[in-house]
Amino acid sequence: MPIVAEKLTYDYSQGGLGVTHALKGVDLTIPDGCVYGIIGHTGSGKSTLVQHFNGLLQPHSGRVLVDSLDASDKKLLPQIRQKVGMVFQYPEYQLFEETVFKDVAFGPMNHGVSGEALNFAVNEALLLVGLEPDLFASKSPFELSGGEKRRVALAGVLSMHPKALVLDEPMAGMDPQGRELFSQLIRRLKADGRTLVVVSHHMDEIAEICDYIAVLNEGEVVLNGTPSAVFADLELLSRYSLDAPFAALMAHKLRERGFRIQNAVTVKELGASLIAELKRC
Ligand SMILES: Nc1ncnc2c1ncn2[C@@H]1O[C@H](COP(=O)(O)OP(=O)(O)OP(=O)(O)O)[C@@H](O)[C@H]1O
Ligand SMILES: [Mg+2]
Repeated sequence: MPIVAEKLTYDYSQGGLGVTHALKGVDLTIPDGCVYGIIGHTGSGKSTLVQHFNGLLQPHSGRVLVDSLDASDKKLLPQIRQKVGMVFQYPEYQLFEETVFKDVAFGPMNHGVSGEALNFAVNEALLLVGLEPDLFASKSPFELSGGEKRRVALAGVLSMHPKALVLDEPMAGMDPQGRELFSQLIRRLKADGRTLVVVSHHMDEIAEICDYIAVLNEGEVVLNGTPSAVFADLELLSRYSLDAPFAALMAHKLRERGFRIQNAVTVKELGASLIAELKRC
């Protein structure tokens, strides 16, 4: 189910203070079954872009196609939203029920799921995001930490089994263990054939989990490709106010000190390159 943005523009009116051109003609294709990272400095347009992928925002010009369905066509929105689930950057806006159970159950219930099948769907989704149903199901979502709220919002989307998931800053507020659990979940969902769009400032995880990455800068896609291609030019990244993954920085530093180390974006790649160099010494 490809998601395609064609010459997408979006402006925010700033009251009497003019207009912010948040997206300036974005062309991007998210192929089926891949993990696509969207990175860029704060205010570069990431959230604005991904909110078009399930019709939450409507393009000012250009268009977004989901599985060839035009996301500007209001009649198609229910169909599109069943295909593309979205977890917002600020999940507290997404949680509204009295208990975690009710929140995660909301989507399936609206699609006629009830009784044991509903219990199963909720428990399955909570376990997937690493929340023990016995501990969390009866809690109020508003008593939870930021990271836990994010997981509940994700469970609410997973319980609907969408083909594609858009996750805006899913790792914000998570500790390294939470981020590792999240990376495993992404791999599992990918293995299950889902398409994933992940907005994140965590470059190490992005480099590990993504097949492709797009870099946004001032509302434009300025770089687009595999993690190795996108993280190859550290100077260019810093021009876009972006960090590089730890492995890419280390590889660069080791090269500066005369080691013959190839470009690396993951610790595994860096390790392999280091071992090869040590064997040569
Ligand atoms: N509701 C809004 N009203 C007015 N301007 C907005 C609104 N939302 C975003 N903007 C502006 O649009 C631009 C893009 O914002 P967006 O939230 O898409 O960026 P982002 O890349 O997601 O940033 P962050 O990394 O901080 O989440 C920014 O200049 C922002 O100030
Ligand atoms: Mg954002």
